[in-house]
Amino acid sequence: MATDDLSQAYNSPNFDPEALLGTIISADDPDRALIESWAANVDGAILDVGSGTGRWTGHLANLGHRIEGLEPATRLVELARQTHPSVTFHHGTIADLSDSPKRWAGILAWYSLIHMGPDELPATLASLRAVAEDDGVLLMSFFSGPRLEPVQHPVVTAYRWPLPDITQALEHAGFEVTDSHWDPRFPHAYLTAEASKQNL
Ligand SMILES: C[S@@+](CC[C@H](N)C(=O)[O-])C[C@H]1O[C@@H](n2cnc3c(N)ncnc32)[C@H](O)[C@@H]1O
Repeated sequence: MATDDLSQAYNSPNFDPEALLGTIISADDPDRALIESWAANVDGAILDVGSGTGRWTGHLANLGHRIEGLEPATRLVELARQTHPSVTFHHGTIADLSDSPKRWAGILAWYSLIHMGPDELPATLASLRAVAEDDGVLLMSFFSGPRLEPVQHPVVTAYRWPLPDITQALEHAGFEVTDSHWDPRFPHAYLTAEASKQNL
C-alpha cells in the first residue's frame, strides 16, 4: 500500500491511537521484558521506525537509551511529541531514510512493517539495512501464519508473513536472523536479526 494511503488511514479520526496502541507502556505490558532486554544489549543509538504514539520510544528513552522515533502519520507524530517532549520524533517514512547519512546500532520495528506485502517489504528491509551499522541489531514484530496472505487489521490491511519467507527477505536485504518466535496458535511473531557485513 502507498505510504500516503497508509498515513491517511493512521491519521483518520476513525482510528483512536490512544485506545488501540496507548501512549505509554504499562507496568504489566507483556512485551516489556523482551523489548527492554533487547535494548539493553544495543551498543549505541536506536531508531524506532513506525513509532506511532511514541510509546516504546518514550519508554526506552526513560530507561536511559539513546533513541529517536520515525513516523509518517502527522497526527501520531504530534501526539508522540506532546506525550514525550524530550524525545526526537522525525516525521517521515522508512524510504525517506535513504537521504540520511546517520547509522543506527539498533532498529526497533514493532508491528511497523505489518502493512507491507511482497511488493513493498524487500525494499523497506533494504532501506533499514542501509541505515544500520554493520553488526547493528533489529528487533521486529509482525503477524505470521502458514501462508503469506493479507489479513484484516483495525486500521488498514496487514499481512501474515510465514517465518521462512520473512527470513529469506531479511537475508536478501543483508540481515542475518538470530532468533525468531512464532506460536502457531496465534498470529503474533517476532524476530531479531543482525546487519551482516558481507552482503553490502
Ligand atoms: C501498528 S502501528 C505500531 C506503532 C508502534 N510501533 C507501536 O508499537 O506502538 C504501525 C505504525 O507503523 C507506521 N508505518 C507504516 N508504514 C511505515 C513506513 N513505511 N515507514 C515508517 N512508518 C511506517 C504507521 O504509520 C504506524 O504508526
